[in-house]
Amino acid sequence: MDVLIHLFVGLHIIGIASLLGGFLTQMSAMGKGTARFNKAMLHGALTMLVTGVALVGLNQADDNTVNNIKIGVKLAILIVILGIVYVKRDDEVAEKGLFATVGALTVANIFIAVLWT
Ligand code: HEM
Repeated sequence: MDVLIHLFVGLHIIGIASLLGGFLTQMSAMGKGTARFNKAMLHGALTMLVTGVALVGLNQADDNTVNNIKIGVKLAILIVILGIVYVKRDDEVAEKGLFATVGALTVANIFIAVLWT
């Protein structure tokens, strides 16, 4: 079971890479007001959701304590991220403030994950 949990943590990290990486590639465009939500961000956010839920289930099945409040906060933030990226996925240009918000929420979730022990 440990190997499976570590495997899903790895997939969870690939999801972060895709979501945050998709955002970072648009940073200079964001400065010019021409950034757009891209497929890497959408698929990364979806990967976070699927692997996160799987990690909760695997940890519970293995009798590991899961911090439900921390997971609830991460889930709530991810739902906001996913909602924005999904609704705006076809927009040629994303509103600067909204685009920056998604990046900030993603970074916030990373620090919640690693600092909230
Ligand atoms: C943008 C959204 C998210 C980010 C950036 C993120 C980030 C991370 C990171 C960096 C880890 C590894 C932390 C460590 O092992 O110390 C992790 C672990 C984990 N994540 Fe996420 N996560 C996100 C969303 C979610 C969601 C939505 C769920 C559940 C529905 C979730 C559930 C978990 C679980 C169960 C673990 C392993 C146990 C733990 O360390 O708390 N994550 N996450």
